[in-house]
Amino acid sequence: MRLLVISNRLPITLEQKGEEFLYQESAGGLVSGISAYLNSLQASRNQELEYVWIGWPGLSVPEERQQEVRKKLNSEYHAHPVFLAEKAMDKFYHGFCNKTLWPLFHCFTANVICDGEYWTQYQSVNESFCQAVEEILRPDDIIWVHDYQLMLLPKLLREKAPESPIGFFLHIPFPSFEIYRMLPKKWSRQILEGILGASLVGFHTHDYAQYFLRSVQRTLGFEHKMGQLIAGNQIVKVDTFPMGIDFNRFFATAASGTVQKKKEKLQKPLAGYKVILSVDRLNYTKGVINRLQAYELFLERHPEWHGQVILVMKVVPSRIGVEHYRQMKKKIDELVGSINGRFGTIHWTPTLYQYNFVPFEVLVALYGLSDVALITPLRDGMNLVAKEYIASRNDQRGVLILSEMAGAAKELGEAVIVNPNDQEEIVDALQQALTMPVEEQRRRNRIMQDRLRRYDVIRWANDFIQHLRRVKEEQKSFSARVLGATAREDLLKQFREASKRIVFLDYDGTLVSFVPDPEKACPDEALLRTLRTLTEQPNTELVIISGRDRNTLENWIGKLPVGIVAEHGAYLRRKGESWTSMVPKTADWKPQIRHILELFVDRLPGSMIEEKTCSLVWHYRKADSELGSMLEKELIDELVNYTATIDLQVLQGSRVVEVRMSGVNKGVGGMHFLNSVPYDFILSIGDDWTDEDLFQALPKEAYSIKVGMTQSHARYNLEGTRGVRALLDELVASNVRV
Ligand code: UDP
Ligand code: G6P
Repeated sequence: MRLLVISNRLPITLEQKGEEFLYQESAGGLVSGISAYLNSLQASRNQELEYVWIGWPGLSVPEERQQEVRKKLNSEYHAHPVFLAEKAMDKFYHGFCNKTLWPLFHCFTANVICDGEYWTQYQSVNESFCQAVEEILRPDDIIWVHDYQLMLLPKLLREKAPESPIGFFLHIPFPSFEIYRMLPKKWSRQILEGILGASLVGFHTHDYAQYFLRSVQRTLGFEHKMGQLIAGNQIVKVDTFPMGIDFNRFFATAASGTVQKKKEKLQKPLAGYKVILSVDRLNYTKGVINRLQAYELFLERHPEWHGQVILVMKVVPSRIGVEHYRQMKKKIDELVGSINGRFGTIHWTPTLYQYNFVPFEVLVALYGLSDVALITPLRDGMNLVAKEYIASRNDQRGVLILSEMAGAAKELGEAVIVNPNDQEEIVDALQQALTMPVEEQRRRNRIMQDRLRRYDVIRWANDFIQHLRRVKEEQKSFSARVLGATAREDLLKQFREASKRIVFLDYDGTLVSFVPDPEKACPDEALLRTLRTLTEQPNTELVIISGRDRNTLENWIGKLPVGIVAEHGAYLRRKGESWTSMVPKTADWKPQIRHILELFVDRLPGSMIEEKTCSLVWHYRKADSELGSMLEKELIDELVNYTATIDLQVLQGSRVVEVRMSGVNKGVGGMHFLNSVPYDFILSIGDDWTDEDLFQALPKEAYSIKVGMTQSHARYNLEGTRGVRALLDELVASNVRV
């Protein structure tokens, strides 16, 4: 088995020096996290899982040199490059990724640029990635797509490799729906559909996963249950996997001789000072400018620290092609100059600033010698630097000041947590950190270290892959239930060959689609024709079995020669006969239940109560769907408690909650027809919970079909009302053919 890791950037970035290509380590949390996992696989000689990393080599390589680059990347780095032209990369990477998605997903809405050409290139580069994967894809590969640059890819791959396990992980925050909806509708739909091509979608925090699910619900209308939803015919699971680090590597390296030597060297110019460390990629989301301003304020407020502290600030070059970043770099240079100019002396430089990439061992040495790590992003998906700082402190000393806007803050609650926009709070945090007793530092770090050691990056990746396999297994058993070609043929054959047939059809959601106004869901000509033709087949009974009231059903289909079950089984009318009541007793329970439902109508504008003979129904199809589904859970909870000792049932339907008398249901209603005559072909089709009673009551050789791709007691699932109508037409056609 092989793992295909797919991300925009490969762990190796090419740089051109004259004619020569230099192969440099890439920067960023994604690369460092996944590399740590893959290295650990190699170190443990895990024969079971080979891997290939597919991505962009960071440079557009002329065609005549692509072969050479491909060969080197393949053989030395397990990497398969996706070569992209400079122009495409510009609009895709600098454009849509870094000027549209990055600022939007990090809530920097003022920086967002929406440009049609960027979007076109985004689509086309995602397609190029799909082709690159296809070039090397094997049937037993596990596909793991990473991050915001490739959100359309899971769906593209699903179309090419429907059986492959495909996972997607977002390494940056997912914004709330109010922000996400700022994207043009067509793009926002396609992005969500793209991601939902994966079987498992992972986020760093619970909040991001919830924001995503809400956007899916609001944009595509897919509801989820405990993070699981059905998109098309596929089960998709959305879950939280906070990315860890290779804890043991940092902890052990911190004690190594090389790091000790580097530490001694670095410490020389810092001797006698308290060191505050700051490490980030150059990015406005990292809050570097706010941090410098807060440090300036700290020096202003606390002159006693002058000549006592040094801020060591490392900024790693990143995305220099984007103008915004260039401006930011300039501003940082100016601010550092101004702080040093304002407070510095011949003997003391308050800020030591470097704009370069820091290699692993130097970074660990820096973590180890710093008294404080000041990490205050304005918004950050996770922030691994914070975790690495804690893991590198094998002396358990040092204080982490961490922004509450970083995903990592959810796991590192013992750090000094600050709001990065509040400079006063950062000043206080610095004072607290610089004066924190060593015992207190150790107490906090010990707890955080235990946590980081337990859920490290290896556990993170294994957890994700295991979950992915599990969802894929569920998908297999679910797919077996979809009414596919063979089962369909079988059904038609049984229908043809039967001597006495009965077909039960639910109405709303089965024969006609839902409409906001239930009164307007009357049958169209084509449907009436289909139903009539079905009743004209020899030895065929048709029963419409619905939750609707008698009058409506009478008006809409009363002229057809069919049996009708109304109000979920409360009334029954055999073909050509009059209505019979199935209600056992009077409805003295209604006033109390109505009172509860009225409270919910007041709380949810647009929802309403419908009264039926033996039930009361709360509908919220016309109301806000999100608030509706929240209140629905609350209402059900209340009703279930209330009716615990009464002979009433609480049923959840499609945007309805119904309270009805026990013993009156579609199952009991349907069985009245079945008990009178023996049938050798029984078919029942329905879309909601109320149909489950009939599915369960039917003999096991009966065909039962659930409309919609959700769990059911029915034998098969079928997509949408159109699918139902097509099946009914086919039943008739196949019968005529014989
Ligand atoms: N890093 C590095 N050298 C540097 C700066 C950072 O190797 O000079 C690594 C750091 O160890 C961390 C990653 O880059 O693993 C940055 O990840 P983080 O999640 O903090 O931020 P991102 O870059 O993903 O926004
Ligand atoms: C973040 C993103 C990664 C990205 C990295 C570096 O960590 O989540 O997807 O690779 O930054 O950014 P770059 O644009 O240089 O690839």
